[in-house]
Order: sequence, then structure tokens, then C-alpha cells
Amino acid sequence: MLPAGFKKHGAKLLLRFLGIAMCGIIGVLTKEGNAGKLAYEGIKRLDYRGYDSWGIAVKGSGLSIYKRTGKIGSIPNKLLQGSIAIAHTRWATHGKISVRNAHPHLSQNGKIAVVHNGVIENFQELRDFLAEKGFVFKSDTDSEVIPMLIEMYLEEGCSFREAVRKALLHLKGSYAIVAIYEPEHIMIGAKNASPLVVGLSDGRVLFASDLQAIAPYAEEAIFLSDLELVEASPEIKIYNIESGLSIKKLPKKIDINLCYADKKGFEHYMLKEIYEQEQAIINASAQNESLLNKVVESIKSANKVFIIGCGTSRHAAMLASYMFAKISKLNASALLASEFPNFANLIDEKTVIIALSQSGETADVLEAVRAAKRKGAKIISIVNVMGSSLMQISDINLMMNAGPEVCVLATKSYLAQLAILYLIANHLIGNTEQAKKELAEAAKKVPIIIKKNERKAKLLASKLKNTSSIFVIGKNACSITALEGALKIKEVSYIHAEGYASAELKHGPIALIEKNVPVIVFAPDASDESITNAIEAKSRGALIIGVSTERAKCFDYFFNVPCKELFPILSIIPIQLLAYYLALERGLDPDKPRNLAKSVTVK
Ligand code: G6P
Repeated sequence: MLPAGFKKHGAKLLLRFLGIAMCGIIGVLTKEGNAGKLAYEGIKRLDYRGYDSWGIAVKGSGLSIYKRTGKIGSIPNKLLQGSIAIAHTRWATHGKISVRNAHPHLSQNGKIAVVHNGVIENFQELRDFLAEKGFVFKSDTDSEVIPMLIEMYLEEGCSFREAVRKALLHLKGSYAIVAIYEPEHIMIGAKNASPLVVGLSDGRVLFASDLQAIAPYAEEAIFLSDLELVEASPEIKIYNIESGLSIKKLPKKIDINLCYADKKGFEHYMLKEIYEQEQAIINASAQNESLLNKVVESIKSANKVFIIGCGTSRHAAMLASYMFAKISKLNASALLASEFPNFANLIDEKTVIIALSQSGETADVLEAVRAAKRKGAKIISIVNVMGSSLMQISDINLMMNAGPEVCVLATKSYLAQLAILYLIANHLIGNTEQAKKELAEAAKKVPIIIKKNERKAKLLASKLKNTSSIFVIGKNACSITALEGALKIKEVSYIHAEGYASAELKHGPIALIEKNVPVIVFAPDASDESITNAIEAKSRGALIIGVSTERAKCFDYFFNVPCKELFPILSIIPIQLLAYYLALERGLDPDKPRNLAKSVTVK
């Protein structure tokens, strides 16, 4: 993954070049001889993790390699066959995107192929070490040291498994790898601080960065922990990488509905996932009572509670801190996971961390959680992806059960997180049944809100498509809905959008308001204080787009959200729709916005 000329810039730039790369990997071993086809189909489902180059290695009579730059395209038919195949998709904003840097990478003798997701921090040292032994590198990546090290150990007489294990002991940093060796019907997967899951079906073994990629072809899954290595032949043997000792792990049945996504007739995942928010609220609300009790007990016996997340999950954390204060009279501070180290001095054994993450793989969240754990804090996580790293390192985990979210933008996972947090806030005061009823009502409102507002969102998008800046305001909990609304718009339409607590408008941003600048206001009703701030903006020429339960006089456009109780949560829906249609109006792919990735697995 390193660009050519890296050496010139020196090792200090390593993380700048490498630290932003996120990849998807897959491995398939079958008895049917269609490994190439399954790996190719699987990697297409992982392209949300990266879409600037890709590659596949298929073991048939020999090893065939096919690599291309750009989004995943077609592959020659002969590569669809084979007994074992591995594949990779990559995303980076820096560094050269080229065929030679695309994975899989081969060993010097061309017999070992490896796909890798992660960052090998000591790769330069390893390259120098291997170069001295006569290994010649063909790419500029950190990853290529892995097949070379494996070859070195094979030459020393190790078995393939032992060669891989010993090679991995050299690596500093993070990795999920799948490796194959042409003479043997064996596929090896291993991980440390990057995600890897194993899928199983009769005589078929699959490795993937997430379950979604392989769910259609597997009945059961094994979720790996860090420093675990799996040898598949197709018999499965698991080992600890450091000790080499074998480990027993039982496979779990896969619920296909929770991990496999298709567009179900929608043009884009984003729209489909907006529509799925009704079910997301229903599923998220159906939390196991004893788990909820455990969460509440932990919070009650804590002296400090922090809620952490990044991006949209951070907004859910912020909105939850309003809910906890209002409903449960609990001070639960929302912290940005990446800024968590600044508050590490406050953490002790009586601290509870509620970590929010759709993917459960966001590096900033995982790092914050690990740091908090080291100080003895209790970790409660809310995640959507089964088997994810966050889920595994938490003391208590609540699943969102929102089903796979494929669009890079978070929509249904946001509502699912908030439904669970609303439930916890109410469970803390013994108001669970009432909260469940309210959430059931809220879920029913989702299709109504979509129906009332989708056409309007489409029309407004065609009017605003050339606008350069949009302001989004709200008061109280709606100030967070404003942040999330602005994030949705900028992520997908690339229109500059800023969210503010409405009263803040007059402390600076109002200087930017001039004729026809759109200001979206989230106001639970027409007498909400935010309306005063909207009127102040309107007096300076702003175009006021109201999201409310009722029409206020100052609204030039009105999105009707007929739900007062959970208004700060549900009112985001029309703005999700507006963001979606703004992207379409501007000719953009809403599912894969530029420069973004769904799962940010490195810092
Ligand atoms: C990325 C995505 C965002 C998401 C954030 C946190 O930046 O593009 O949509 O909100 O990561 O993701 P998480 O999986 O931790 O919720």
C-alpha cells in the first residue's frame, strides 16, 4: 500500500501513507471447484471498505493472479473456478494506486499468495532484513513482507502453518491476512487488531473482513479474537499465534437476515436503509431484559459514565447525553472517541464507558475502549456487526440488530442506537414498558414520515442542488439532530453544511446569512425557541426549511414529522431523504461518497 518513492520521505511518513488505508479481504476453500466465483462475489460485497484497486488469486492447476485498479470490474471466466481463492479490495486517499501495489502479493518463488488488511509498522526493517537474505520486492507495500517471511520459514523446513505463524511473530502493527500455498490444499487466516471472521458450510471454509461478504455461502461462523490463526483444509484448527497452542472455539449459527444485504429493488442502499428504519427501531427495542438489567446495574454502581463514538455514532452519544440527563437525571458525558486520551485521567474502576459503533471496528473507538479497560473501566457496547472487535472486548454488548448497513452514510444504525439508548435511559428509572410502547409508536411513524416527505425532499433537492452552503439549527436535543443533519448533507452531496445549537447562530454564523441561504430548523412545534432564531435568520434573507410537527409562519418549506415525543430522533428522516436526493441531483453515488469509507479501521 505504500507509494513509490516512500523511502525518500522516510519512515515518519509511514502512517500518513499507510494509516488511512482500509481494505476488505476474503478467502474461500471449497470442494465444489468454484472458489474463484465465491471470492469474487464476496469481495464485491466488501467494496464499501475500499474501492480504488482490487485483486484475486485462484489456485487451480497452478496459482493465477488477476489485479486491477478502479472499482471491482469483471474477471476472466477461468478465474471463477479453483479449489482455493483469496481476494482483496483497497481504499486509500494518499499513495499510488497501481496494479503492482494491489493485492494479493506473492512470495519470491511465486508459490505463496497473501491478502492483508492493516498496517505493518516495522515493514521497512523487515524489508531490509529480507533484502539482505536475497529477497527482491516487486511492490512498494508493507504487505509484501508477509509472503516473503513465510517463504523464508518454509525454506527453513517449517510446515506452512508454522511458517505463517512464525512470519506473523515478526509483525508490529495490525493485520488480518489470508495466505495460500500453491502445493497444499490449505488456507490460513489470522488476525491481530484488524477484523477477520470464518464462515463454515459443508466442506467449505470462508474468511472475510465481515460476515456480510460470506453470509450467503456459510451456515455457521467463528468469530476470531486477536492473535488467533486458523488453518483450514477444510478441517478447521485454531491456534494462538504467540504460543502456537491450539484453541477450541465453537461455531455460531448465522442469521442470514441480520448479515446479508441486497438492494431489494431500491436504486441505492442509502434509500433502502432509510426505509428500513421502521424495522431497525423494532429490532433494536427488542433487547434482552437481563442484559438491560446488567447495563443498568453497571451504570448505577458507577461514579462516572462516558458515552463515546465517532461520526454519526458520536452524534448518537451526544443525543443520548441529553436523554440521560432529562429522563434519568444521569450525567453521562459524550466524548469523541479520538479525543478520549485527554480525559483518560478521569477513568478508574468505577467508570462505565458506553461505546457506540455500527461497525464495531472503528479504530479510534477501539483504542479509547482499550485504554479505558486498562484503567479498570467497565465497557458497555452497542454495535451492529456481529463478532466485531468492539463486541468482543466489551463487558456487556447490546446488538443493534439493524441488519447490514451498506451505504457509507449511517442512517438506520443511528436510529437503532438511539432506540437502545432511550430504552436504557428509561430502564434506569423503571419506565421500560412505557418506553417500549413509545418506541413501537415511533417505528410506526417512520413510513408515515417518509410518505409525507419524500416527494418534498426530492423537489427541494432540485431547487437546492447548486447552493454552496446550508445551515442546520435546533435547540435542546434537536441541536444534535442539527449536527447529524448537516453531516448527512455534506457527506453525500458535498455541499458545505454546518449544524448549530440554534441560539449560537447569533454568536457568529449569522454573519454568513444572506439572501436565499438555506437554513434548516428542527423545531418540535411552532412555539419552540429555535423558531425565534430561524426568524432572525429569515430577517437577513435566509430561506427557512422547517422540520416540525406543525407549520410555523416563518417556514418557506415544511417537512412534517408528526411525532412530538421522539421528535429529536425521528426528525432526521426528512433530512436523510433531502441529502439522498441532493446527491442524485448532483450526479453523485450516494452509497460511496468520495474519500469516505464505512469502516475506518485505522487511525
Ligand atoms: C465512518 C463512516 C461514518 C460513521 C463513522 C463511525 O466515518 O463514514 O458514517 O458514522 O465511521 O462508524 P461506526 O462504525 O464506529 O459507527
